[in-house]
Amino acid sequence: MNPKNAAGEIDQLFYVNSISLRSIAEAFARHLHRALQGEFSSLSALPSYLPPPSGQETGRYLAVDFGGSRIRVSAIALHGSGRCSILKEVRRLLKDPEQGYDLTRETTEGEQVFDFIARLVRELYQEYPVRCLGLTFSYPMEQLSCHQARLLRWTKELKPRATLGRRIDLLLLAALQRNGLPEITPAAIINDTVACFLSGSYQTSGVIAGAICGTGHNSCYLHDSGLTGDPMIMNLESGNFSELPVNTYDDRLDQQSDNPGQQRLEKMTAGKYLGELFRLVCVDLMDRRLLATARPSLRTPYSVEADILSWLQSDGWEDRQKVAVWMKNHALNGNQSQHTVLLQRIGRAIVKRAITLIAASFMALLERKSGLTSPVIAVDGSVFQYMPGFVTEVENLLLRELPTVRPQLLMTPHGSSIGAAVGAALSGKQP
Ligand code: BGC
Repeated sequence: MNPKNAAGEIDQLFYVNSISLRSIAEAFARHLHRALQGEFSSLSALPSYLPPPSGQETGRYLAVDFGGSRIRVSAIALHGSGRCSILKEVRRLLKDPEQGYDLTRETTEGEQVFDFIARLVRELYQEYPVRCLGLTFSYPMEQLSCHQARLLRWTKELKPRATLGRRIDLLLLAALQRNGLPEITPAAIINDTVACFLSGSYQTSGVIAGAICGTGHNSCYLHDSGLTGDPMIMNLESGNFSELPVNTYDDRLDQQSDNPGQQRLEKMTAGKYLGELFRLVCVDLMDRRLLATARPSLRTPYSVEADILSWLQSDGWEDRQKVAVWMKNHALNGNQSQHTVLLQRIGRAIVKRAITLIAASFMALLERKSGLTSPVIAVDGSVFQYMPGFVTEVENLLLRELPTVRPQLLMTPHGSSIGAAVGAALSGKQP
């Protein structure tokens, strides 16, 4: 086999044609139906106990965005009429070797994580003494109300000790008290997809779902007959969707991951895994002597960031330069232009599949909400934001498959923070 044939083989392995796209959408719809009935499913239907906002909510709030790779705390003013401002934001990475800490270590205690959040809240509270707080928590949790939630499991990077099954609101409250902030109350605790929904829906009408594709992937949607009979936003934990056509690289990634068998859709679409999939393909091609390298650097798991995939999507001069530097760093020698073409084909095949799978899951949500014109899916996260063409291509696939529905994707930058403030406003607790 030569590199050209290898590229063709990779294309085939990652290609999802429109028949498969439709059948994935149908499988997603079945899993959703089962989750809503309380039956066994790879999807969840976790109520947020929050309705969509009217856009007229007002007040000042503290917003904590506890994400997959960083924590942000902001002071947010909601002005009504769908307008808001971020007054100030402080942020820290979950791990920062230069600052000498790493919250993602297995030895981290839950209390340490929540103390870290509380200290950031204190930093901001000194300047903005606002007592009503919304927490966006980007992990699966079971809500008991809009401000009480139990942790179901960790995904992505974190796994602090002795936290599974515990109440996140109580962990945060205790940390706020330990850090001299007993007057601050978590008024809302929401998943980041719900935050994205709330942020989009605060600013525009017609939002039927929210989705994140960043370090992790997930969606939520507006369910019409919630527990109270009113519409309610449901977190689907769709990153765990499992009825998917997988290839040998997917299986390898899954088997070597911290959570084999879980988060299968996330492992094919999210930023944490796209670089790793790419690396696994490269290593396989190296072993088959279709890629030549003098250095073993590519053999380290998770050593490749999703950035390389975004550079490979574009034909721009700057991105080509970045790819060339990347190849040099990994000592990929041999015929440079042949290698570049091969890497580009691999990168594009992996990203194209992620786009198609996400479009299939959105199709299932849109078909469930049939009868609406131009429904909106609010989206956020680094893959949606920075992967060239990602949002447009998902939209194009949806337009191709559902031409009469004319769905739209709405990017909601800072959605996790703005959504936390909107959630706190909706909770009814006074700012
Ligand atoms: C988590 C979800 C979250 C998603 C996006 C997944 O790993 O399970 O709760 O919404 O990442 O951050």
